[in-house]
Amino acid sequence: MGGWVWEEEQMSDFETIIYQKQNNIAYITLNRPRALNAYNLRMRDELYEVLGAIRDDADVRVAIFQGAGERAFCAGADLTEFLTAPSPLIARQVRWERDVWGLFLSLPQPLIAALHGYVLGSGLEIALCCDIRLAAEDVQFGLPEPQLGIIPAAGGSQTLPRVIGGAKALEILLSGRWIKAEEARRLKLVNRVVPREKLFNEAEKLAQKIAGFDPVAVAYAKQAVTRGLDLSLEQGLRLEARLAGAITG
Ligand code: COA
Repeated sequence: MGGWVWEEEQMSDFETIIYQKQNNIAYITLNRPRALNAYNLRMRDELYEVLGAIRDDADVRVAIFQGAGERAFCAGADLTEFLTAPSPLIARQVRWERDVWGLFLSLPQPLIAALHGYVLGSGLEIALCCDIRLAAEDVQFGLPEPQLGIIPAAGGSQTLPRVIGGAKALEILLSGRWIKAEEARRLKLVNRVVPREKLFNEAEKLAQKIAGFDPVAVAYAKQAVTRGLDLSLEQGLRLEARLAGAITG
């Protein structure tokens, strides 16, 4: 990843994330490799800041999410912070003030997840907030929440069934079974499986292609598909017509 430019100084201050931007592509690296990039409160706050910056930055036409280190994209919520919120009321208030997942799903630009190693709990939920998922051969997906006495709270109970269907999503959630690369591809949980050493290049090649297209057409295409999935066919066709009309004037 050498040679990328830090374009905005404040974006280099993060402790748990590396944010870089070059040639209209944003690169977001979850960066706690010694803890398998576990998602902690600091990462939540920094991710919120980065996602807001991406949303408001017309220079960013596409973004790639990846995990630092050899072993994981993200091994889920940081278990050392598990249930440490001062009270359920405060936890709910913080969540309300910082709706990372709502923000994630509202970004207009296409988001690509480059996934390797462990992709567990919130790690899988981050991947599900992305539009296109590429995976390395060593990838392993799982939602361990019910084993910990909780349920996914970063959108996973809604996003996973929308991607792979309700029965498969429930099986994964309720059995605690982990899914490896080939099964993930069959389930359409990932678009493509590639050798580990090619993962980043493949994600970048795709991002470069997208970044070369008209940004409004790209954003509208994303909107038509992602919003359309939650609409009836009739409403979806109306949305498509509105967006197509807005482009052609
Ligand atoms: N939160 C905090 N730290 C974590 C973590 C998590 N979710 N997942 C891994 N780590 C840390 C480990 O504590 C360990 O730290 P240490 O070296 O200081 O002891 C380091 O990352 C490496 O993990 P380790 O468990 O030694 O690797 P492993 O190969 O034996 O096992 C996993 C890998 C992913 C199977 C195992 O780490 C695990 O089960 N993690 C928890 C997954 C989980 O339940 N996530 C929460 C979902 S809601």
